[in-house]
Amino acid sequence: MKILVNCALPYANGSLHLGHVAGAYLNADIFVRFQRMNGNEVLFISGSDEYGTAITIAADRLKVSPGKIADKYHREHEESFRSLDIVFDLFSRTTYQEHENTVKEFFLDFYHKGLLVERSMVSPFCRKCDRFMPDRYIEGICPNCGFEEARGDQCDNCGRTLDPQELKSPRCIICGETPEFRETKHMFFQLERFQDQLLQWIGTKSFWRHNVLSFTRNFIKSGLKERPITRDIEWGVPVPLQGYEHKRIYVWFEALIGYVSAARIYSEKMGEENYWKEFYKNPDVKVYHFMGKDNITFHTIIWPAMLMARGDYNLPYMVTANEYLTYKGKQFSKSRGIGFSVDEIIKVVPKDYVRYYTASILPEGADTDFTLEELQSKVNTELIDKFGNYVHRLVSFITNNKLQISSQGVISDDRDLEAMSFAEDKIRAFSGYVNQTEIKKAMGEWLELVKYANGYFNQSEPWRLIKSDRNKCISKLYHSLVLAQYICGISYPVIPSTSKKVLEIIGSSKFRETGFTDNLFVKENSEFSPVKTDPPFQKLDLLEKNPNCLDLRIGQIKEVNNHSNADKLYVLKVDLGYREAQIVAGLRNYYTPDELVGMKIVVVDNLKWAKLRGEESQGMLLAADDGETVSVLTPADSAASTGGQVRIGNLGYNSSGKIDMEQILKMKLQVEENDGIPAATAEIDGLRVPLTVAGSKVVSQKNVKIPASVR
Ligand code: 2FM
Ligand code: ZN
Repeated sequence: MKILVNCALPYANGSLHLGHVAGAYLNADIFVRFQRMNGNEVLFISGSDEYGTAITIAADRLKVSPGKIADKYHREHEESFRSLDIVFDLFSRTTYQEHENTVKEFFLDFYHKGLLVERSMVSPFCRKCDRFMPDRYIEGICPNCGFEEARGDQCDNCGRTLDPQELKSPRCIICGETPEFRETKHMFFQLERFQDQLLQWIGTKSFWRHNVLSFTRNFIKSGLKERPITRDIEWGVPVPLQGYEHKRIYVWFEALIGYVSAARIYSEKMGEENYWKEFYKNPDVKVYHFMGKDNITFHTIIWPAMLMARGDYNLPYMVTANEYLTYKGKQFSKSRGIGFSVDEIIKVVPKDYVRYYTASILPEGADTDFTLEELQSKVNTELIDKFGNYVHRLVSFITNNKLQISSQGVISDDRDLEAMSFAEDKIRAFSGYVNQTEIKKAMGEWLELVKYANGYFNQSEPWRLIKSDRNKCISKLYHSLVLAQYICGISYPVIPSTSKKVLEIIGSSKFRETGFTDNLFVKENSEFSPVKTDPPFQKLDLLEKNPNCLDLRIGQIKEVNNHSNADKLYVLKVDLGYREAQIVAGLRNYYTPDELVGMKIVVVDNLKWAKLRGEESQGMLLAADDGETVSVLTPADSAASTGGQVRIGNLGYNSSGKIDMEQILKMKLQVEENDGIPAATAEIDGLRVPLTVAGSKVVSQKNVKIPASVR
């Protein structure tokens, strides 16, 4: 059977984190590996979503071109996926020419079919920037909750979706100017014309997950409306119509077409130009989509309507959307310093351990919290104590006793037959869940089988049988090896390299002959030649104590005086909320007193007090130094309250008394790019982690060349 698996194209605007992995990519990879193992021909597609304001905002912040940002993160994402053994047939890019051609083909097809209409609408225009501004580029006061930094598309404080015209005191985030609202023309896709067809189609999807189905039904029932599919921006796919030279196609409209363009590009690469048609035009093929829950409407309504409009394309067979992975209750977000990026975690946890733990807690039914403690305990007690030790005990017993195990002459008693049939049931259940894209439930079956195998081995007591009934002992060991092979079979999609390692340790002949196929799930003709080794995997020992020794506080400068005895130094009076501190700082060559007064800074408040040229410094302020410019560090959120604690990632400080300069240096503070933003970071357990205050970052007050050291 042929299967097409499309995984949402991640925006190339920041590092990939475990929330992404758990949202769509790991479960899709497990699904694909399992289908291939069972002999199905799979085309597995994803790629970088490179256009739209998600990218231009990151680029504007760093003052580089959007193309540069997209390039950087495209490469980084490819590397992150590879590091976790998530392997697509093609990880495409929406900036490829073939993608642009495909998008224009879709657009013009709809245009000629009369499915696109031109309408006038009102959009924010900035006179100073001399252009229309995307909604996200306008900020102002939320009409709902009064939050002062609400965005034109949504208020992050109360969550309400907004229209930029609703904002009070709107301003352009680039130049601060008040925008005016001008008429502009756009093309609208007449989504409402597919209302009945969509409802009917959704009616055939009773096997979808409840969250996807109910969300979609409600959305359609509330009435579909035509949707603008062009924008007044420069970064995007050009609109193939006269008069639209300065407009671009809306990012979502073209990114979805990325699934088709990627399949076409893959076909060309393999030298079979029409290969993609087998997946999109042959109605026997099943098309699966994996994504996070925020992408549902686009995949169950907009994309199917676009495919219906084409007329001769397969519609999605299955749309699976995971809920969110959270870290300490909050949604993973590298730009807000919540949770871990793939690169960070992979430096300290082996890839199969990350895959195992993430697979076993996938947020398939509800938001799920990721914790390092649980990762460590699940890996150590399940994967290592149950699976690793089972294999180790079994193989050690066989090799220590120099036993030859062969299927010849093996006699199965009732207990053995029961064990085999229990295992086969578990394999069936595991398969059933994976086929329904319910990976977490499948992992439950995996664990039951591993526990059962341990019980079977213990009850068999080979250490007694070897003295009383050698043949029976060998039969029991043989069945135990078959169980190990079965477990490896269902382990493969989840922990591929571990599974391979164990199959080599047990010396599975089937694995040698046919590799990872469903051949591993049949007992017949299984032969084993176990190899003596050390325990197959190492236990995890992640640092559990808090390594952050810095008591960092937000202070506000109240007074600035020249140091009477040193011409590079100022003596500052700093309000820390709970006390006023005198701080000596070498800023005289870089700031005037007027510039400094009122400024919010970051103070190390547990540094041993010291006299500097006769003036006491009761702490130290943090500043970035790129060799030319020195700039104080300041909270990105200017409303951060004085005295507020600055955390490193989520870590408060470990309150181990006063520290000295050496301990500050150990934290390796610097200003560097952190998810599209130049921000202050420190090193924790080998990972770069941003400094945050009440969830927002600490940044350099002036532009400095990054990376810049902090002192
Ligand atoms: O939410 C996102 O990250 C989007 N870039 C997903 C796009 S999926 C599809 F359109 F390609
Ligand atoms: Zn402007």
